Amino acid sequence: MKKIAFITGATSGFGKAAAHRFAKEGWSLVLSGRRIERLLNLKEELSVPVHIMQLDVRDADAVKQAVAALPDEFSAVTALLNNAGLALAPQGAAQVDLSDWHTMIDTNVTGLVNVTHALLPTLIKTGSGASIINVGSIAGQWPYPGSHVYGASKAFVKQFSYNLRCDLQGTGVRVTDLSPGIAETEFTLVRTKGDQSASDNLYQGTTPLSAEDIAEQMFYIASLPDHININRVEVMPTRQAWSPFAIDRD
Ligand SMILES: NC(=O)c1ccc[n+]([C@@H]2O[C@H](COP(=O)([O-])OP(=O)(O)OC[C@H]3O[C@@H](n4cnc5c(N)ncnc54)[C@H](OP(=O)(O)O)[C@@H]3O)[C@@H](O)[C@H]2O)c1
Repeated sequence: MKKIAFITGATSGFGKAAAHRFAKEGWSLVLSGRRIERLLNLKEELSVPVHIMQLDVRDADAVKQAVAALPDEFSAVTALLNNAGLALAPQGAAQVDLSDWHTMIDTNVTGLVNVTHALLPTLIKTGSGASIINVGSIAGQWPYPGSHVYGASKAFVKQFSYNLRCDLQGTGVRVTDLSPGIAETEFTLVRTKGDQSASDNLYQGTTPLSAEDIAEQMFYIASLPDHININRVEVMPTRQAWSPFAIDRD
């Protein structure tokens, strides 16, 4: 049976790598993001059927309309990769612009909910073998300075994933919270609002995860036998671990 992956945030990083990984196995693809030029280029690179949609996941009406307008050959979605997301404002909570907090909530929480809600009927119709892979983060589990709303938004992703599992019990639809650690993508460039040297410095001298590493996890999760649900995957590079608690002293 033809398999279709619906990937949000396919213009960069994990989403783009996932498009290549799923295409390699012959899956048809629905690819979305705001940067249409990148989607057009990506479609050119892939040799499987691809439907692109310029979409801001924060816009619930636009998401609903785009899903309703899916061409027939792309409408029976097998896997939803809820990947679009971002971190902003790496400085401490007291120095953050409120608008950056709102943007993270609107994208990582509201956007993910918008897409999930629009695609649930389709995924339930697909039934056994369908998957929702929500991209969380280690920041949703472990606190660190400067994570404030970003980490909290990813904690939402984790709990929403677990709760969805309860409500989808009996439908055959699987739900996974895939939570990566440090990975080299455009993530830090976005977080620092275009500071290439800050991004380069973060990844310098270590071995972060690559976008392809995460795409591999996504493909593995989506192609497991129908009766297996991976609830949560937390994946870090070997060279990343936890730090000691911070103690404030006189
Ligand atoms: N890299 C890491 O270290 C890391 C670690 C843990 C979790 N994550 C999570 O992994 C996911 C992918 O991030 P990445 O590392 O691949 O970063 P990235 O290279 O910056 O890619 C982010 C993607 O999200 C899309 N996006 C952002 N805002 C959007 C919006 N409002 N509407 C639609 N699409 C939007 C972007 O597309 P457009 O700009 O074209 O819209 C882009 O394709 C995110 O959810 C991120 O929080 C990343």
